[in-house]
Amino acid sequence: MSDTLTKLTYQTFQQSKSFFSFTHQTLTTQLRDLLLPKVRQKIKPVSQELLLKVQERLNHLLEIDWQDTEKGMYPKTLLFDNPWEDFFRFYPQVWLDIPRIWERIQLNKYQDFSSEIETDGYPSYYLQNFHHQSNGYLSDLSANLYDLQVELLFGGSTDAMRRRVISPLKRGLKTFEYVIPRQIRILDVACGTGRTLRMIRAALPQASLHGIDLSPAYLRKANELLSHIPGELPQLLQANAEELPYLDNYFHAVTSIFLFHELPANVRQTVIEQCFRVIKPGGVLIICDSIQLNDCPEMAPIFHNFHAVYHEPYYRHYTTDDLIERLEKAGFENIETQVHFLSKYFIAQKPA
Ligand SMILES: C[S@@+](CC[C@H](N)C(=O)[O-])C[C@H]1O[C@@H](n2cnc3c(N)ncnc32)[C@H](O)[C@@H]1O
Repeated sequence: MSDTLTKLTYQTFQQSKSFFSFTHQTLTTQLRDLLLPKVRQKIKPVSQELLLKVQERLNHLLEIDWQDTEKGMYPKTLLFDNPWEDFFRFYPQVWLDIPRIWERIQLNKYQDFSSEIETDGYPSYYLQNFHHQSNGYLSDLSANLYDLQVELLFGGSTDAMRRRVISPLKRGLKTFEYVIPRQIRILDVACGTGRTLRMIRAALPQASLHGIDLSPAYLRKANELLSHIPGELPQLLQANAEELPYLDNYFHAVTSIFLFHELPANVRQTVIEQCFRVIKPGGVLIICDSIQLNDCPEMAPIFHNFHAVYHEPYYRHYTTDDLIERLEKAGFENIETQVHFLSKYFIAQKPA
C-alpha cells in the first residue's frame, strides 16, 4: 500500500473509533442523566470552542503518531493493532456492567468488592472502584473490559498516547549503544493488560521486557495478550510499585503509563524513588499520565468533570502535583516534559 493510502486508512480507522466512542458516550450520558440526575448536577458545561480545541489536539496526536512511523520508531502495523476479538466479545459486557456501576454511584459505594474477591494484602489506596469499575482492578471481568473502557473514554486514541513513550525510550537507550540489544532490560511499572509492552516489543524486538502490576487479573490478561506476539515473552510479576522486586541498577529504562494519577501523593514519591533505584546510571524513566492543570488551564472544566464523573480519588491532587520536583528529589536529572492530546510525559535520566 502506498504511504498516502496507508495514512488515509489510519486516519479513517481512527475517525471510526472516535465516532464510535462519541456515540457510546452520548448514549450512556443521556441514559445516566435520565436515571441519575445527581451526576449531571456535578458537571460543568464544556463550550463548543473547548471541544474543538480537544479535537485539534487529537488530530495533532495522530499526525505525530504517523510521523513517528515515518521516522522508523515503530512499524506501521502498530497503528492498526486493535484487540478486535476482545471488542466483539466484551462490548456487550460493558453495557451489562453499567447498571451495577450506576447502582454504586447512586449509593456512593466506592470501595465495593464482591465476597469472592481476595482483598487482603493490598494497600488501602488501591482498594477502590477506580472509574467505578466493578471489583476495581481485581477481577477477570475488570481486566477484560479495561482496554475497551479506556478506548471509549479517550475516543480510540489510548494506544497513540501510549506510543509517545517509544521515541524518548529509544533516544534514552542510545546511552547504552554498546550493549547488545537482547541484553537491554526495560521495565513497565503498572503494566496493566500489557498494551505498552506489546508496542515496545514491536519497536525493540530483541530487548528483554519486564512488567509489574498489583493486579493478578490484569497480569493474567497481559500474559494472554503478550503470548500471541513473536519474540521472547515479557516477564511479568505481581508486585507493588512501592517495593520493586529487582536489584539496584538493573534496568536500562523504565516506563510507567497512567499510574501516577491513581496514587496518593506520598506514594508517587516512593514509586519514583523505587524507579530511580532499579534504573542503571545513565538510564531513563518515562512517565506518561494525564495532562496537568498548568499545561492547559482552559481545560479546567474537563478536569473537573473527569474527577466528578469517574471515581478517581487522587486525580485532583495529581493535576497540580509538581512531578519535576519529585523526580529531582529522587536524584533524576535532564528532566524534560512533553504534552500530547490528553497526556503528559516526564522523561528523566539517572545521572551516569
Ligand atoms: C489506569 S491503569 C494503567 C494500566 C496500564 N499501564 C495502561 O497503560 O493502561 C493503572 C494500573 O496500575 C496498577 N497499580 C495501581 N497501583 C499500583 C501499585 N502500587 N503497584 C503496582 N501496580 C499498581 C493497577 O493494577 C492498574 O493495572
